[in-house]
Amino acid sequence: MISKTMEQALNKHLKEEAYSFYLYLAMSAYLEQANFKGIAKWMRVQAQEEMTHAMKFFDHLHERGGAVKLLAIEQPKATWPSIAAAFQAAMEHERSITKKINALVDKAAAENDHATANFLQWFVKEQVEEEATVEPIVKQLEAIGEHMGALYHLDHQLGKRGSA
Ligand SMILES: [Fe+2]
Ligand SMILES: [Fe+2]
Repeated sequence: MISKTMEQALNKHLKEEAYSFYLYLAMSAYLEQANFKGIAKWMRVQAQEEMTHAMKFFDHLHERGGAVKLLAIEQPKATWPSIAAAFQAAMEHERSITKKINALVDKAAAENDHATANFLQWFVKEQVEEEATVEPIVKQLEAIGEHMGALYHLDHQLGKRGSA
């Protein structure tokens, strides 16, 4: 059985993952409209992954006898100044999620909630991967700058990402 405060914290994080879905879906829409179909697809796959993360919290709450409470999801931005700015925002977002996961791990330890601590380890690892995936794209985009040929090449490369 999960504590009430842990239940609250996990519900809050379920919403953070759902917001991540919304944020990357908004970035995907922005990229579709800018006609970068490959990068739009990459973001769409990223969004789908975030929804699976939210569902892991949904399932864990139920498995531990907690109640799921779906909180309101904030409206994400609809546009960014550039593709580089969107990926920069994605990187900052992932770093903020990592901090939130770490805070949850601390909370689980403080409460001696071993089941939740164990559940969260998957996310600790996932956040390492998430940051490691986005950071090189941010660097590539910085290097590309306004070079359209290189940008379309990246669009083609990122469009190869398979569905989640
Ligand atoms: Fe996530
Ligand atoms: Fe993520």
